[in-house]
Formats: sequence, C-alpha cells, structure tokens
Amino acid sequence: MRAAVGTSGVDFQSVQSAPSAVGASFAVGVRRPGRDLCEIGDLDLDATCELLAAARALVPLAAGDGPRGRVALRGALILSLFNEPSTRTRLSFEVAARRLGAQVVDFQHDGASSAAKGETELDALHNLDAMGFDAAVVRDGRDGYPLWLCSQLRARVVNAGDGVHEHPTQALLDALTILEAFGREPVPGALDGLRVAICGDLRHGRVGRSNLRLLRTLGAELVIAGPGSLAPAELAREFGVGLAPDLDAALTGAHVAMMLRIQRERLPADLRLPDDASYHAAWGLTQARLGRLAPGGVVLHPGPMNRGVEIADEVADGPRSRILRQVTLGVAVRMAVLARACGVSAETCLKEQVV
Ligand code: NCD
Repeated sequence: MRAAVGTSGVDFQSVQSAPSAVGASFAVGVRRPGRDLCEIGDLDLDATCELLAAARALVPLAAGDGPRGRVALRGALILSLFNEPSTRTRLSFEVAARRLGAQVVDFQHDGASSAAKGETELDALHNLDAMGFDAAVVRDGRDGYPLWLCSQLRARVVNAGDGVHEHPTQALLDALTILEAFGREPVPGALDGLRVAICGDLRHGRVGRSNLRLLRTLGAELVIAGPGSLAPAELAREFGVGLAPDLDAALTGAHVAMMLRIQRERLPADLRLPDDASYHAAWGLTQARLGRLAPGGVVLHPGPMNRGVEIADEVADGPRSRILRQVTLGVAVRMAVLARACGVSAETCLKEQVV
C-alpha cells in the first residue's frame, strides 16, 4: 500500500539558524526513524539486509533490462539539492527516481536563485518544503547537513554525501557489488570470510568511513592502506580495523581492493604529498599488484577515478574491475532508498503495473 505523500509524521522543530560556511561541521538535527537515510547507522542489520535485498530485486529495472515504466512512485516529487559537484551520484538518484515514475526537481541556493535577492538558505528550504516534496536528496560540503535538514523539512532526507562524514548509498552499492561478485545473500554475516582493503585517501573523504561501518557490520575483515596523512593509524583505531604498512600488504589475500582518489579539494594547504607518478609507484593499484589479490578478487572504485594515480588504466578497464557494475547497482540501491523514503515497499515497486 502506498503511504500518503508528503507526511513525515514529525512535527516541525523550532527554526534553527542555517549553518553558515561550507567546511563547517554541525550535528544539530533530529533522528526520524524509518525513512530518512543520513548515515549508515540509521539502518540496523535487518534494515540493511532488507534494503540490499530490495535493491538486488530491482537490478533488472535499474539496468534497463527489465520492463520499462514502473509507476510505484508515480506522483512522488523528489527534491535534488546538490551543493557540491557531482555527476554519477546526482544522475544516479535522478535515474532511480525516474525509473520508478517519480519527478525530480533540482535546486541550488546560489546566484541563480533567491539567494541573489537576499533570501536566507533556511527560508529558501522552508519555501521548497511547503511545495510538498516527498524526499530531498542532499549533497553538501558540511558534515551533518542532512541530519540538520531532518529538523527543518517535512520531506524525508537522503544523504548523497556530506563533507567528510558519510556517503551511505555509496557504501550500500559497494556492499551490493561485493555480494554479487561473491554470490553472497543479503543476510547477517553476508561478508564473513571476505577481506576488503580500502586504499588511498580515507581521511579527507566520506566513502571510506561509510564503508568501514557498513562492511564491518556485514562481517568483512577490513584493512586500510595509504600514506599516513591519508590513511592514519587513528582512523584504523577509531574503526577497529587493520592498518597495512604498504599497499602490497593490504592487497595480499584481499577479496576486494577498493581504491579511493586523493580528495584534493579538501586537503589542508600545508599537506605535502608525493607527485602523481611517485604516488602511483607507492600506492597505485597496478597490474603487477593485482596478482596479490585472493583468487576471484575484484576491484572497486566509487569514481571519479584519477587514472595513473590511485589506479592504472589496465586495472580500471580490466577483467577484475567492477567499477561500471557499481554504477548500475548504484541505481538499484537508490531506487530502494527512494522507495523507502517515500514509504513504498520494494514489493510494491516490483509489482506495480508496467505502463
Ligand atoms: C565520491 C564522493 O563524492 O564522495 N564520489 C561519488 O559519490 N561517486 C568519492 C569521491 O569523490 O572521490
């Protein structure tokens, strides 16, 4: 049964001031259990497995291989609030929404909007919310911004990446890619016995953090690797995962090599890193290094890739790469997440009439 559109079941909180500068971190917000997705911790193990199972069932539709024109989210309105550059994530959410029959509206509080006339960000958001969006998909440079939005909007909030905090749908699609690669079911302990090496810049990104949380919950053995300034020992300690002394050690026996680019847009000005060629020699996934993976081991990358830096061309384009499969599975994950945000079950998405 389709839930009523535009009702959050949560009273508006008293108005808080909008966060000011990008780069700020703030954790004001309310947790509204059930339909928002601000961080991986919003999903318990059962909810995670249900969501992955729903996404898996939606893969043919996501890939464009199934029947077209599912209408489970017909009439739903999704607000796309991307305040940071994005290609695949923004379009992936948009494709996911459209494949389920929802409509997507874009907004940026910038020079082309009411911001140019002096309207505050918070007023702009309240005005948009008054138009009755079912869900808002949000990317922002400020840590905690999606959670803050939960205290401001009736629309359900889905985090598409906030600062260096979290990127929950990326971690879910990575988990789905690993399940598929190793023929595992989306059940508790799904990744038991699998070793995942997350390599590169974990410190200034959000993908690594969301994955460390999610993949561990699903039973994976995790190790991180990278220069000390990008994959620091404190991070390994904080998440209770291994820290490899070098890339070869991280990759040895790994079932999954997840490569992360250097987040140059967020590096402190005084951080000195090796040039690209030296970085590649020390920390790049090359064809020669691939031999260290476990049999059947696969390569993941959330994109955008910096070829010749963290990953070599022949690896990115080679048979062990699941990088484009991640993109397809990402649409399926976002379909399941949007359906959940709109209060529609995966079964309904699958059963709904083809037009
Ligand atoms: C990631 C992000 O934006 O955090 N990209 C993505 O969503 N596919 C990773 C990155 O930018 O390196």
